Amino acid sequence: FTINVASSGGNATSGKQYGFLHEDINNSGDGGIYAELIRNRAFQYSDAYPLSLDGWRPVGNAKLNTSRLDEPLSDALPVSVNVSPRKSNCTPRRGAAGNGNIGLLNEGWWGMAVEEKTYTGSFWVYGGYEGVFTAELRSDLEEDVVFGSVEIESEAQEGKWVEHTFELVPESNAPNSNNTFALTFDPAGLTDDSLNFNLISLFPPTYKNRKNGLRVDIAEALAQLHPSMLRFPGGNMLEGETNKTYWDWKDTLGPLKDRPGFPGVWGYQQTHGLGLVEYLEWAQDMDLDIVIGVWAGLALNGDITPKDELQPFIDDALNQIEFIRGPADSTWGSVRASLGHPDPWPLHYVEVGNEDWLAGGDAGWESYQEYRFPMFMKAIREAYPDITVISSGATSDGYDIPAPGIGDYHPYREPDALVEEFDMFDNQPIGHIIGEVAATHPNGGIGWDGDLMPFPWWIGSVGEAVSLIGYERNADRIPATCYAPVLRSMDRWQWAVTLVQFAADPKLTTRSTSWYVWELFAAHPMTHTLPAEGELDPLFYVSGTNEDKQSFIWKAAVYNTTDHADVPVSLSFEGVEPGTKATLTVLTNIEGDPYAYNDPHEGNNIVGSTVTTVEAGDDGAFEFELPELSVALLDTAQE
Ligand code: AHR
Repeated sequence: FTINVASSGGNATSGKQYGFLHEDINNSGDGGIYAELIRNRAFQYSDAYPLSLDGWRPVGNAKLNTSRLDEPLSDALPVSVNVSPRKSNCTPRRGAAGNGNIGLLNEGWWGMAVEEKTYTGSFWVYGGYEGVFTAELRSDLEEDVVFGSVEIESEAQEGKWVEHTFELVPESNAPNSNNTFALTFDPAGLTDDSLNFNLISLFPPTYKNRKNGLRVDIAEALAQLHPSMLRFPGGNMLEGETNKTYWDWKDTLGPLKDRPGFPGVWGYQQTHGLGLVEYLEWAQDMDLDIVIGVWAGLALNGDITPKDELQPFIDDALNQIEFIRGPADSTWGSVRASLGHPDPWPLHYVEVGNEDWLAGGDAGWESYQEYRFPMFMKAIREAYPDITVISSGATSDGYDIPAPGIGDYHPYREPDALVEEFDMFDNQPIGHIIGEVAATHPNGGIGWDGDLMPFPWWIGSVGEAVSLIGYERNADRIPATCYAPVLRSMDRWQWAVTLVQFAADPKLTTRSTSWYVWELFAAHPMTHTLPAEGELDPLFYVSGTNEDKQSFIWKAAVYNTTDHADVPVSLSFEGVEPGTKATLTVLTNIEGDPYAYNDPHEGNNIVGSTVTTVEAGDDGAFEFELPELSVALLDTAQE
């Protein structure tokens, strides 16, 4: 392959090509990147997920019941747990620690890591009690092994909800994540028959020390990808199962006691702990641009909000935008300011709905094209002419997207299919984001009739690399490409193929094969693409420059599934002198098997990375070979 790259004639890029979608799927929010350690902390429920004491067990001679007091903690959290002493002839339960205390313990999100760090906790209690509460992190395997404990002076009062806060610093690291959090009290101090507790919360230190923030190891695995774009809050989560149960941004604001939670769409009740402000703080802390999805009045069950009832939802979207980027003295900007954020957040991309070629069936999609998207776009553009409004479907979904809107394309594909679509956007006049993309199914043509792969796998990741190159060649019209979904709990998931896997134990946090590919490309942003002459297939490439670094960049993938030969490359950049040095990074599969993957339980990494310095020869060309099924990056920047 002889490739000659011109020094001009390309297009400016957004420089923000690589990012991810986040929605709460796979317990990626609650029990995932949202650092709360307590599961079912506020006994939230819905028609879909009934009230339960899931995650909780009694300690000592305690009896636990869910309870609806006449005076609830808040309208949003009407149910609490009642803790009362059992009759004295009962055998004390394990965990009574011999001190006669009673209470409750939480199993966490299928375990709880315990480290010598400062944990921040709080709980609300209703009822009279004189004495101390004891908060403990303890082993669930070995009786009486307590890693850390703190006593909290009771301020509880009869007939009143009182919040208690505490810090807990374990004296040692737990050897594994089979641990629990216990909250107990001495029943002799009760001046009521029992106590009610609600919103029992415990956080480890969080990413960038945000209150109500992100789990450090998971956030770091994402930050180390060098992302520049966050699309949220979904995905299907935004749409909701019905027109009454979508992700309503207003329910996610303010004190946790005012957040009702909602059923989500992925098989579990969600807390709303990771709310709009937390997403925006996340973007701020990782320096990400954002694409926010606003609810379009269509739900997954086919509910359609008709045209004559749509205006309140358009107004709601405008309010949401004002909350994010309006001045601090505007109606919703002042709400933001009251929550500790007087400065607006930047917002340049707003997407109307999600995959609305699916939601609401044919009638929904017709309504989307006929009036829904045009009405939202008109209102948003009138108020914010600089915002790019994104349709939740693509031109390839049959939508002739009206200007100045752009589309959203979601290819979940076999790797061969991603490669076949390499040039799909080459002559496409309408801009798109790639709001969700991943290789999900093995080659073979069965696609969605078969299961997803168990993890991202090497040939899938190389297929993704080819599609990323295709998108980046059109980066003037594709301002962002997002992997989805991005996180997966190994304890409960609905979608196996994600960039990062995790469990309660941070040692299991695992970067997938695709993570390494995306990281390599994202770490080398181009400010301009540059036209290249040369053959394509099985070598696919995009070339460009980073004007800030005065460097030339070349991203490539070799996708050869039948011919296993190495690919010789002769690469010249117009204006690059003989003797110029460049760094060439090549990712390969060290196991050889194209179906190999990184498995958290194996702790393996099948991605090999070779970094060499190459030098332009007398003719100004860099000469090298790339192995079969490999991903490569050449950059002339001198670090
Ligand atoms: O990423 C998982 C799901 O795939 C998203 O929720 C949806 O938008 C898509 O169909």
